[in-house]
Amino acid sequence: MSPFSALVIEPSPDSSAATAVIREFTDPGILPAPGGEVLVRVTHSSLNYKDGLAVTGQGKILRQLPIIPGIDLAGSVEHPGSDIRFRAGDAVVVTGWGIGERVSGGYAGFARVHGDWLMPLPPTLNARQAMTIGTAGLTAMCCVLALEDHGLKPGSPNAVVVSGAAGGVGSMAVALLARRGHHVVASTGRIATEGDFLRDLGAAELIPREILATPSGKTLDPEQWAGGIDTVGGETLASLLRQTRAFGSVAACGLAGGAHLPTTVLPFILRGVNLLGIHSVMCPRPLRDRAWARLATDLTPAQLETMSRVVSLREVPGLARELLAGTVRGRIVVDVNL
Ligand SMILES: NC(=O)c1ccc[n+]([C@@H]2O[C@H](COP(=O)([O-])OP(=O)(O)OC[C@H]3O[C@@H](n4cnc5c(N)ncnc54)[C@H](OP(=O)(O)O)[C@@H]3O)[C@@H](O)[C@H]2O)c1
Repeated sequence: MSPFSALVIEPSPDSSAATAVIREFTDPGILPAPGGEVLVRVTHSSLNYKDGLAVTGQGKILRQLPIIPGIDLAGSVEHPGSDIRFRAGDAVVVTGWGIGERVSGGYAGFARVHGDWLMPLPPTLNARQAMTIGTAGLTAMCCVLALEDHGLKPGSPNAVVVSGAAGGVGSMAVALLARRGHHVVASTGRIATEGDFLRDLGAAELIPREILATPSGKTLDPEQWAGGIDTVGGETLASLLRQTRAFGSVAACGLAGGAHLPTTVLPFILRGVNLLGIHSVMCPRPLRDRAWARLATDLTPAQLETMSRVVSLREVPGLARELLAGTVRGRIVVDVNL
């Protein structure tokens, strides 16, 4: 087998911290921390917030060392092992299920994964497009489906707000909501640099991040939003809850601004506002299939192109730091063969 590269997180020699190193392998059988018996030839992965934490050694994401991070991967089955559901050459995608956290993930030319985690690459997408979507897109779509399941419809007199809009999940959410005909308000800390990007994705209005991040001092604010998708947490999520109209819903999926939630119960008991938790990593298969069916058709190739850039494994550590600093636009796709 020809040599291939992997980005491996290894214990550092003095055990003080883990370090990210590029290693060359010729045998996929000796890759660390395999997750199953299906051998996948990986072509693309992506960089998510969690990968940023894993690669920079923050947030206690990695459950064992050495390990290959990367919570998403796309490629083709090389050897299905004894799993009769797959044949060599099948184009597949894996997002979440603990790859890149508990077991090795997508930052390598090969990965060994459990057959239950594999889903067929949707026929309308190539591997790069699937990884532009990745966990961020699945998360955004789970948010959209949760809002729709709780009554959100296009044409509402109120807008739908998205926080952290220029990030991976946020930009996907803006595009998905706009495509369905919602009036989308994008909250971002980067109007000056990313305003045009967000308008191109379909945002009808932009608001500075501080507006939602600043507490009003009240328990309820005037009703503004038909619904919200929050990637930020903290005061931002508390503001969305205070400002969502009666019987509207907020899908909470992130903590880019903090894990705390300084709210009262009043939005829930005086307005019937729904707080919908989103956990895409272990998303059950029926919901995952429903989400990917929509993702495969609701985003245009041009949008997926605009939203992403392709980088090599060697660029991942530097970009992981930029992502955690909140300066990355949209999605980063990792071509593991670059
Ligand atoms: N629940 C799940 O299943 C799930 C799945 C995937 C991701 N997530 C979470 O969702 C969040 C976003 O993930 P991502 O991959 O989209 O990350 P990302 O690409 O880094 O996007 C995060 C965005 O949040 C905003 N932001 C960053 N720091 C902030 C701060 N201190 N205060 C307010 N806003 C800040 C920035 O957007 P602007 O510059 O536009 O303001 C940034 O681009 C993360 O917390 C991640 O852990 C959860």
